[in-house]
Amino acid sequence: MCGIIGVTTSKRDNVVDVIIEGLRRLEYRGYDSVGIAVVDEQGRIVAKKAAGTIDSFVRKTDLSSIKGRTGIGHTRWATHGPPTDYNAHPHTDCNAKVAVVHNGVIRNFSSLRQLLVARGHRVKSETDTELIAHLLEEKLEESTSGVEALSRALHEIQGTYALGILVAGEPDKIYFARMRSPLIVGIGDGENAIASDIPAIISLTRRVLVLEDGEFGYITPHRVEIYRLTGDGYRRVPQNLVVSRIKTIEWTPEAASKSGYPHFMIKEIFEQPEALYATLSGSVEDPLVREAARIILGAEKVVVVGAGTSYHAGLVLEYFLAKLAGIVSYPLIASEYKVLEEAVGEDTVVVAVSQSGETFDTLEAVRTFKERGASIIGVTNVVGSALSREADLTLYTRAGPEIGVAATKTYLTQVLLLELLAVFAGEMSGRYDSSTTRRYLDVLSKAPITAKDSIEVGDPEARMLARRLVKPSMYIIGRGLGAMLAKEAALKIKEIAYLHAEAYPAGESKHGPIALVEEGFPVFVVATGDSPEVAGNAVEMRARGAWVRVVKPANYELELPSDVEVQATPPVDSHLLEPFSIIPFFQLLAYHTAVSRGYDPDKPRNLAKTVTVE
Ligand code: F6R
Repeated sequence: MCGIIGVTTSKRDNVVDVIIEGLRRLEYRGYDSVGIAVVDEQGRIVAKKAAGTIDSFVRKTDLSSIKGRTGIGHTRWATHGPPTDYNAHPHTDCNAKVAVVHNGVIRNFSSLRQLLVARGHRVKSETDTELIAHLLEEKLEESTSGVEALSRALHEIQGTYALGILVAGEPDKIYFARMRSPLIVGIGDGENAIASDIPAIISLTRRVLVLEDGEFGYITPHRVEIYRLTGDGYRRVPQNLVVSRIKTIEWTPEAASKSGYPHFMIKEIFEQPEALYATLSGSVEDPLVREAARIILGAEKVVVVGAGTSYHAGLVLEYFLAKLAGIVSYPLIASEYKVLEEAVGEDTVVVAVSQSGETFDTLEAVRTFKERGASIIGVTNVVGSALSREADLTLYTRAGPEIGVAATKTYLTQVLLLELLAVFAGEMSGRYDSSTTRRYLDVLSKAPITAKDSIEVGDPEARMLARRLVKPSMYIIGRGLGAMLAKEAALKIKEIAYLHAEAYPAGESKHGPIALVEEGFPVFVVATGDSPEVAGNAVEMRARGAWVRVVKPANYELELPSDVEVQATPPVDSHLLEPFSIIPFFQLLAYHTAVSRGYDPDKPRNLAKTVTVE
């Protein structure tokens, strides 16, 4: 939620283009408003900002009037105050001495505002961020250095923040601070950067340092200085420790660009075979996956926690842990963690799934459970993310950067990694021996090709079918694993195609939902091998006039009347492959429906990719 970037360079005349490019790569974090500020040659802060998208900002703003070698930028997902020109970041103090971009929420916003207004500050917007600029204005006057001023201001702020700050008269410095909102430093050659996320700076550098909560400091083109907040002051992090934290990341600039595709979402759907291959080859021999399985087997209670699509991937773990290892686990929506709080303790292992590793709700759940003594296994796509730092053990999907707001390749790679975990847990539980594990591994090695076939077959069909989705609502039902996949299918349709899609276990129809069915009501039935009974559910829906389409692997036999349509997905020889056969079709259906209705699938309304607020 909200993307921030800052670049300070000694090798370019002007930083504006790089910041705009970075903002385009960050737009998935919010697209309500955009803004940019630089320190110009005279040491003055020049800022431009507006409500709307980056494209409209670039069209209507005279960017040639801003020039400087040090600048910050912001793309907003509104929290305090609606998306207006005034509320867009960067925010400045009374005299434009300080410019601030911010991702997060300041909790003591009201009292701080009252205090600052009483002290004569002219607050121009409704945001919490502007208050930081005014507070810093005061602290700069009272302090002997920018670092001291920033530390004093941070001690008075409560809440979450990733901050990028310019100070007039300091033309080669960007101050930064992090508390529970993601922020990285990019170390380049003659230029350094800060950003919410790796894709924003990937064309500048692949050398990255992930900041920790409570850290702040500044960058110049040749220097990174990091400090840590202490009880009432701060201390410097020695340079050798800073250097030892720098990592070179594998992602490439191409992976963070559309590479000729009209949208990131379709590119990422098509990248799934490659992402699955990378995840599997990076995980099969990784001893940590077996270690995670061992931890799960040693626990009394297993909780699988995540939000949205990551929660849906967690459901697949629940399913296969039961099937293969006989382990009962509890899948938990992250924001509902309080439901289980008192039941979690030292006897519990929590598998936390989050592609970004920065989702606020998931991190809150993890931190709470950890305090209660639970062991945490993190599953994430982002090296160095907050989840990886909170977890006792982290498993990585290797999907590469996912820029489209809808999770696609990260979902299937999570599913694959979690299935692998369940396969190892099954062997360690004594239910089968290593030769069976090898057979399962053989099966999993077909996941990339299954997904590839599914995309190739599903793409033209989903494109045609999209035009037939004219009703505002639909059901997507299944049983067993099918019901779990249906949930992910429905989420994709809702968030990208803006159609109401409800997923529920098909057996529940007669307990209520079937009352809604009338002539032409669309019902997709996800048929997995564990549940031939869904044929009956398809028939009962059709008998009430529903337009029924059964989505199933081509080799699964179901007795269906001729007026029930069938969407055949690639054949599979194991339940483990069903997600890779079935899910791409629904991703493509959501995508083509959105495009045919004129919606932007990469930027669904009201959503941002990484939800770093409560
Ligand atoms: C849906 C989607 C979201 C995320 C959810 C969790 O397509 O992307 O539902 O899955 O916000 O995000 P992570 O996995 O980053 O914790």
